[in-house]
Amino acid sequence: MPTQTLFRYLSVPLLLTAVLLAGKLVSIGMGEPPADLGNRASAATVPQRDAASLYVGSNKCERCHTHPIDDDKRSGRTTFMTLTEYPKWLHEDKHSLAYDVLGGTNSLQIGRLMGIAPQTDRKCLSCHSVDCSSTQCSEASDAALAALRSLGVSCEACHGPASKWLRVHDDEKAWRNVLPPQAKTAQGLVDLRDPVVRAEKCLSCHLGNAPEGKVVTHEMYAAGHPPVSGFEVETFLDAMPTHWMPADVQPGEIQKHYLDRAYPAKEKMRKTRFMAIGGLVAVREYARLIGYYAKTRATAQAVVAGAGASTELAVYDCQACHHELTLPSWRQVRGYHGHPGRPPARAWPLVLGNLGLAASGEHQASLRKALQSLNDALDRQPFGDPAQVAAAAARIEEECQKAIDSLRLTDINATDLVRAICRIGAQELPDYESARQLGWAFDVIRREAPALAADAEIAKSWAVLRDGLALQLPKEKELVVNKSVPQTLTAAAAYRPETFSEAWRKLESKIP
Ligand code: HEC
Ligand code: HEC
Ligand code: HEC
Ligand code: HEC
Ligand code: HEC
Repeated sequence: MPTQTLFRYLSVPLLLTAVLLAGKLVSIGMGEPPADLGNRASAATVPQRDAASLYVGSNKCERCHTHPIDDDKRSGRTTFMTLTEYPKWLHEDKHSLAYDVLGGTNSLQIGRLMGIAPQTDRKCLSCHSVDCSSTQCSEASDAALAALRSLGVSCEACHGPASKWLRVHDDEKAWRNVLPPQAKTAQGLVDLRDPVVRAEKCLSCHLGNAPEGKVVTHEMYAAGHPPVSGFEVETFLDAMPTHWMPADVQPGEIQKHYLDRAYPAKEKMRKTRFMAIGGLVAVREYARLIGYYAKTRATAQAVVAGAGASTELAVYDCQACHHELTLPSWRQVRGYHGHPGRPPARAWPLVLGNLGLAASGEHQASLRKALQSLNDALDRQPFGDPAQVAAAAARIEEECQKAIDSLRLTDINATDLVRAICRIGAQELPDYESARQLGWAFDVIRREAPALAADAEIAKSWAVLRDGLALQLPKEKELVVNKSVPQTLTAAAAYRPETFSEAWRKLESKIP
């Protein structure tokens, strides 16, 4: 065994022991309103040490995931993973900034207006660092916990707490080639190769997950939180940027051991399928979010008749309330789902859901009905009838799950999908964020379908959308408020859907 390898294998157990010796568990109640880090659970609620895998910190990953060593090359590992993930994350990925920005001027203002300290408050840390909502935080002292969190959205924020798998996961004979995904998940590794799990993980922060304490509330927006962009999973994976090798370049034997168990979608148009699945996951997660608040309000009303809990404005369509009172108004031209003046659902997750629908054949009718029942429930009274919103959200969740399950296995009809995208773009006068989703989705398909990618006319219409909708996310590691946010706010302010109808129509006419 070369010395490098020996060093690697010897020092891991030592590191792990150090972590475990230091480890006294911290529990911060799940599902409670996000509490300050100082609010530790009492000893009685501290869970068993072996109950959960614990965070070890991304500095523990650096040693092996920075340069591949000779043994990695000899054993063929570098044909399916680069083993340079750490520097990629540190130098190119904005997630490594996520904690630092909580100390910046923007956050200080938010903190002052909300009366909180962003760098220690769970309201912010839940999405800007690892998630300590249940039992995964191993550090005993505030200092150690602060050190873990100061790493930002680090490796384990996505891959899961590593204490249980750190020591064994690098051994293909004990791990990669042996264990099915469920066994890895049981040890705390998040199965990010599964397109549903992956989208769910990203959306927990980029759309929100109330039981995990991850919500950009209206209060935060009003205090100055930058607008969180709509999220198309394949586009955002590319923009992170990726630190993994695409499944289709990995050797067949690796795919067999490594991928097939997690998802059987091996044929062409893999990303298109994942985009459609991601759309259904987005609408499912949105239903969970709006359903969560509706349930809270319904329960409060049941307890004290007439005294409803306050509603969370950020789960509704922002533009229902925030728009210029101009004439002509594209919103008036577009028309309303129901009575004007009753804030409807946020539009972009529903548009993505419609794309998933267009791809998922047999479940179309029942999911469409469930989506309609949400619109109806929201139209019944201002902010919706809580019990009916909650019921509709639960049905959407259920129907989405069925559609997702069938979409994993059915063939994707890319032409149908492109048609659906162009039709919504040209005819439904979508709002800015929805139009962006359509543009991103179109691009995912375009890049996978040679006939679309090669057509010069398509490229021209596509460029109109790309530039007008600010579709290109900046690749460089630059603060979102310096680059993405000004770009999207400028495009959103200038946006008129009818300006783009022509481009969508042209695209549709070119579809083979
Ligand atoms: C001792 C060296 C070492 C350390 C420390 C290490 N890794 Fe790895 N990791 C590897 C090697 C080598 C592989 C490839 C194993 C194989 O051949 O399947 C790997 C594979 C992985 C995989 C793919 C797992 C799978 O199921 O196939 C992930 C994800 C990963 N590492 C994340 C991490 C994270 C996150 C950390 C820090 C918490 C970390 N690693 C720490 C060496 C290490
Ligand atoms: C639900 C998850 C979530 C919560 C909770 C959250 N944020 Fe954010 N925050 C994000 C995301 C996602 C972005 C990136 C926005 C984008 O580009 O779409 C972001 C961006 C930011 C930025 C801009 C970063 C940059 O690169 O310029 C600041 C500052 C910020 N958040 C501060 C806060 C503060 C302070 C809190 C607590 C009051 C908080 N956030 C709570 C998800 C969250
Ligand atoms: C924002 C989420 C996120 C963060 C942070 C993150 N990863 Fe990943 N990582 C992913 C996703 C998504 C994949 C791709 C899974 C796939 O499609 O195969 C991946 C893939 C990998 C792989 C290839 C194995 C595989 O499952 O395909 C390794 C190794 C890895 N990451 C290590 C790391 C390390 C080390 C860090 C920290 C330096 C890190 N990751 C940080 C999301 C993340
Ligand atoms: C723990 C919460 C969390 C998770 C999980 C997460 N993100 Fe993020 N993401 C953030 C925050 C916070 C930011 C803003 C970082 C900053 O600029 O400080 C961000 C920023 C980004 C950006 C930059 C956006 C821009 O406008 O330039 C991309 C791209 C991105 N995330 C993609 C992903 C993808 C893909 C996944 C899933 C594999 C994912 N994220 C998972 C919290 C998260
Ligand atoms: C039901 C109506 C309603 C919805 C929906 C709504 N807001 Fe607001 N918003 C308000 C009101 C009322 C104020 C307070 C206005 C004031 O202070 O002048 C406000 C204030 C704000 C402010 C600070 C005031 C300003 O003009 O700078 C921001 C930023 C903001 N909202 C963002 C959002 C975002 C982002 C969404 C969607 C996620 C959203 N709002 C959804 C009604 C709404």
